[in-house]
Amino acid sequence: MTDPQAALAAHDGLDVLTAWAPEEGAARVVAAFRSTFDGEPDGVWSAPGRVNVIGEHTDYNGGLCLPMALPHRTYVAVRARADDEVRLTSAQEPAGGTWHGQLADVGPGRVEGWAGYAVGVAWALREAGHDVRGFDAVVDACVPYGAGLSSSASLECAFAVALDELFALGLGGDDPGRARLAAACERAENDIAGAPTGGMDQAASLRCTAGHALLLDARDGSVRQIPFDLAAHGLALLVVDTRAEHQLVDGQYGARRATCEAACRTLGLTTLREVRDLGAALDALPDDVSRRRVRHVVTEIARVEEVVALLDAGHVAQVGPVLSAAHASLRDDYEVSCAELDVAVEAALEAGALGARMVGGGFGGSAVALVRVDDVGDVARAVTSAFDAKGWRRPGVLVATPAAPAART
Ligand code: GLA
Repeated sequence: MTDPQAALAAHDGLDVLTAWAPEEGAARVVAAFRSTFDGEPDGVWSAPGRVNVIGEHTDYNGGLCLPMALPHRTYVAVRARADDEVRLTSAQEPAGGTWHGQLADVGPGRVEGWAGYAVGVAWALREAGHDVRGFDAVVDACVPYGAGLSSSASLECAFAVALDELFALGLGGDDPGRARLAAACERAENDIAGAPTGGMDQAASLRCTAGHALLLDARDGSVRQIPFDLAAHGLALLVVDTRAEHQLVDGQYGARRATCEAACRTLGLTTLREVRDLGAALDALPDDVSRRRVRHVVTEIARVEEVVALLDAGHVAQVGPVLSAAHASLRDDYEVSCAELDVAVEAALEAGALGARMVGGGFGGSAVALVRVDDVGDVARAVTSAFDAKGWRRPGVLVATPAAPAART
């Protein structure tokens, strides 16, 4: 059977986002570590970005989502220190991006930029009572940055597994421990990086397994591994990075979350997961905006259940229309799409995709399309041509196959 990611690379005029082999990622950060700090790192750890199959803006509503880990990972070479100092360098930042400081000085509002995702995890683990000390580290990544594919969560989770092992926290070895690492990463993102996100991305990076999508129930943090072998059904999941930059800290994401929380207060609920009768809930809400937001969340949770039932039954191609319905709901009711995402989805569908939708927080970032394996190149080309016709930056494309979670590399 043709490897669809390799097939993409054979098409001219596409910008294919390739993942590094683990050895390449490790070699990069080890070389950078040696030239930045004296001596060798204690090891290299890495964590994947993610793409969400379905279930958007449900995690902070106690709902369901279905992410999978990408082969694209963030790599960190780390050496433990006996003191409290942290020295960080990122090969991804212009001019080497370095951060030096004391762990004791890390706290909400006190670390700017990318370093907050790294030292924030150390801070959150300490807040949870773990004995984490300082470290020297170098970061590099092939997770597309700002593409809605969780580059920031992959950075957090790579540090989480590194610190877990270096300071013998004993959490990385099983799923309950990984759930606690994910909680620390989510806290780092919320309190130190200042993005009010839910926990889907961190759970995906730490708790997904190769070959599976992860059904995450955000109500209690429980998970089920859902076999996700699209190739066996002659299908592939094409990811399109629109390169329209998205931001989770600019207020729009937080505004959606606040509207959901206000709706819960009006309805006398703790989370929107508890809505039993959507019609009655909508009647009880005072304004059109909150009615549409709630309708998205409640119907999106139902779409996750529908997709999981289809996958369980082996009716994989039938997932397509459910993805397209999710896009309409995110565009019209939740209002988190944008022109680039809508064009990517429409062009993919016109070129024969079985379904397509935006993924992640929205306002830019990526879209996914469920396509027949033989159509992967044509659909990617159609989306690229549609962007060319608009005079937009050429999108990045990749075929997602469910990869392994955060681990030592
Ligand atoms: C971002 C957040 C997640 C989730 C998605 C939308 O990726 O980090 O917690 O809310 O948006 O589903």
